Amino acid sequence: MTTKTAPEGVPLLGLLPRMRKDPLGLLQEARDCGDVVPLDFGIRKAWLVNHPDLVKRVLQDNRVNYPKSVLYEKMRPAFGNGLLLSEGDFWSVQRRLIQPAFAHGRLEGMCRLMVDETLARLPALEGAATSDKVVDMAEELSAITLSIVVKAMFGTELKEDMAVIAHAVEILNENSNRRFFSLVDLPLWIPTPRNLDSRRALWRLESIVYRIIRERRAASKTGGATPGAEGGPRADGNANAQNEDLLGMLLSARYDDGSAMSERQLRDEVMTIFLAGHETTATSLAWTLYLLNRNPTAEARLREELRTVLGDRDPSYSDLPRLPYLKMVNEESMRLRPPVWSFSRSAVAEDTLGPCGIPKGGLVMMSPFAMHRDPRYWGDDADFFRPERFSPAESEERPRYAYFPFGGGPRICVGSGFAMAEGALVLACLMRRFRFRLWAESVDMKPMVTLRPLGGMPMRLSKA
Ligand code: HEM
Repeated sequence: MTTKTAPEGVPLLGLLPRMRKDPLGLLQEARDCGDVVPLDFGIRKAWLVNHPDLVKRVLQDNRVNYPKSVLYEKMRPAFGNGLLLSEGDFWSVQRRLIQPAFAHGRLEGMCRLMVDETLARLPALEGAATSDKVVDMAEELSAITLSIVVKAMFGTELKEDMAVIAHAVEILNENSNRRFFSLVDLPLWIPTPRNLDSRRALWRLESIVYRIIRERRAASKTGGATPGAEGGPRADGNANAQNEDLLGMLLSARYDDGSAMSERQLRDEVMTIFLAGHETTATSLAWTLYLLNRNPTAEARLREELRTVLGDRDPSYSDLPRLPYLKMVNEESMRLRPPVWSFSRSAVAEDTLGPCGIPKGGLVMMSPFAMHRDPRYWGDDADFFRPERFSPAESEERPRYAYFPFGGGPRICVGSGFAMAEGALVLACLMRRFRFRLWAESVDMKPMVTLRPLGGMPMRLSKA
């Protein structure tokens, strides 16, 4: 298995040009060279970790040695010191305050709004289905997941702000994607056209977030009804926790000394949840439609399950455990197209990972994309879409970290339950009504911060 030698790059820049051009190919090639493979990116040396036990060591067992890498700093202007980028004790306090907002008991209410927001989008899709128009489903799903996260966060639809938010989020995503892989990364304060675009987008989004935070704070001080979910009072942290929106939970959260989050910290957490929780779920759903399109047997099995369990009604939270194949389809989709296809850490002190010494400051990379296709854990048909591999019987023998679309250890995605429910409910609502036919030979992957479909996901819809 480990007879191949590590990929070599060009003088000075090492593998950087290849990483920019074909990162997925490079990571897969490197995976077959050993459990830990050194990668030379010119001034930066990295180590790709390919064994589930070693991924576990980095994310879980020896996690104090592996905070988030310098690469995440490129996201700092938008994410600030929110949950994705904060570290140490501060992160741990924030995580304890924020995690209850995503707790199991609150998922039921969020599931209702996921279905409602999907149904609100139906007229546009029905129009496309009757007019034979080609629809970019990546864009449609992005609009659906954005309105879901806005509603979950603020409890209202923010109709008049929605176009501004959607545009700002898109520009920020595009530009932070570009910055991630650029050779020369000019700081945001240098007024290049792209930086100016980013700064304007950031400012617009921030202004809306700050305005809402202030309105809500003012309303809770005067005891007035706030525009949150169900419009109910939110005087203390728990009374209305079931139905309270995410911002309400953040506003009523208290540190041990009784103080509340600062306005700046609220801004960072809201922006983080927006940006981390929107495009990830949208791209995942777009790829699921694609993979089902290419695998009619799996699609037929899924449609049969939806028909049997739901009949002619839309799904709800309580249906989720009765739709096991739907869950397996989404899991298999995130195996082959993990939205977060690679992420990294920096070693604080020297460590030994399997056969390799990692120096202090070393960049440690982990790739769900490469690991999810490793024949050692997924067999010779690793490249094929086969949801059955997530059945309890087939999953039993697999190491935990052979599959990690949501990361792992204490910093595992705080929105993973939300994302899984959203993936299932949106897909079920759409598949009950439509058939989706891919309107292209195939769609390539465009690995940015998330694994996007290159050129969108053109599809023609017809009534199911
Ligand atoms: C399919 C959808 C999603 C995928 C694949 C995904 C993936 C991930 C991954 C891999 C991480 C860990 C990154 C690392 O360790 O460096 C992460 C963290 C995070 N995700 Fe997600 N995510 C998804 C949806 C969501 C949603 C819906 C939300 C919120 C509504 C969300 C909020 C966050 C936050 C706040 C963190 C940082 C957690 C921490 O460090 O404590 N994500 N996500």
